[in-house]
Amino acid sequence: MTQQVIETIASKLNVHPIHLRVFMSDLDNISPENLEAAYKEYVDKNPKPFAKWVGGKRQLVQQFKDMNLYPPYGFDPKTATYFEPFVGGGAMFFDLLPKKAFLSDMNAELVITYNVIKADVEALIKKLKVHKAKNSKEYFLKIREQNIEKLSDTAIAARFIYLNRTGFNGLYRVNRSGKFNVPYADNKNPLICDEINLKKVHNALKNTKILHQDYKKVLDKAKKGDFIYFDPPYYPVNKTSSFTSYTKEGFLEKQQEELRDIFMDLHKRGCFVMLSNSDTKFINELYSGLGKQIVINKVFAGRAINSKGSGRGKIQEVVVINY
Ligand SMILES: C[S@@+](CC[C@H](N)C(=O)[O-])C[C@H]1O[C@@H](n2cnc3c(N)ncnc32)[C@H](O)[C@@H]1O
Repeated sequence: MTQQVIETIASKLNVHPIHLRVFMSDLDNISPENLEAAYKEYVDKNPKPFAKWVGGKRQLVQQFKDMNLYPPYGFDPKTATYFEPFVGGGAMFFDLLPKKAFLSDMNAELVITYNVIKADVEALIKKLKVHKAKNSKEYFLKIREQNIEKLSDTAIAARFIYLNRTGFNGLYRVNRSGKFNVPYADNKNPLICDEINLKKVHNALKNTKILHQDYKKVLDKAKKGDFIYFDPPYYPVNKTSSFTSYTKEGFLEKQQEELRDIFMDLHKRGCFVMLSNSDTKFINELYSGLGKQIVINKVFAGRAINSKGSGRGKIQEVVVINY
């Protein structure tokens, strides 16, 4: 099929031609007529993030596509690798579904959960069904209190998803000693065991490595032509909005500067780099004057996390790209 035909079908389907190419690489000699129908079916089959995550990008991915910010035109998903070093819920990964990916995060329990879904999703589903049957506030508190060092990886993953689904707003928040401290949400019908989606996630993770490591490690593996999406803890918009404690360490000026340096190292290497952050003076200055290839774009994002009700409207974010 010629590039022109692919582009015509892609525009009909309102998707990026690269998506269509990733999709087609799994099909032998599909005709243009069948491609359209097969793609529609495939979209229905895309997995969703299995965890609710603060700063999750699910709502923004379409906007990124509409604004031509993602995926990069030159990225070849058959030969190059996708990296998401602050993966969280992984909304972008589940949208792109690249052939080869390295996902990582500093949240150890999250990484264990990804790896359990990848290795033995059936065992996880079994354990989640037990949590589902026993769910109550008392049970939640009992599970929250468990010392995870004594649990198997499958039990850690089931506990993680259970607490994420039944805890307030799907937050992952730890206290100073690193203990999960989110309260029970008391929702009527929390989706504790989304069996179909978990199986889709399992399939999507097949050619993916998921590691518990600092984002800087991306430098060890990324090569020219690879695509890296950075979605770090955001620089706070103001002092009261600083929900940055995904991890005990926090992510402020010094860490944001180091991240900018790594962004530039990857840029010089010939990688495609994309980064989200808050639309603040500090971040705008950090990514200004770096050469004309580094462009700061603005997008609107609805954000639910804010201590003041008035801050709940749409706020602007930046998306920095080098392509
Ligand atoms: C904004 S969230 C990512 C959200 C994700 N894009 C999504 O769609 O759900 C930031 C993530 O960075 C992780 N993180 C914080 N510090 C890190 C570090 N130094 N290295 C790697 N990951 C880190 C957090 O655990 C959190 O999952």
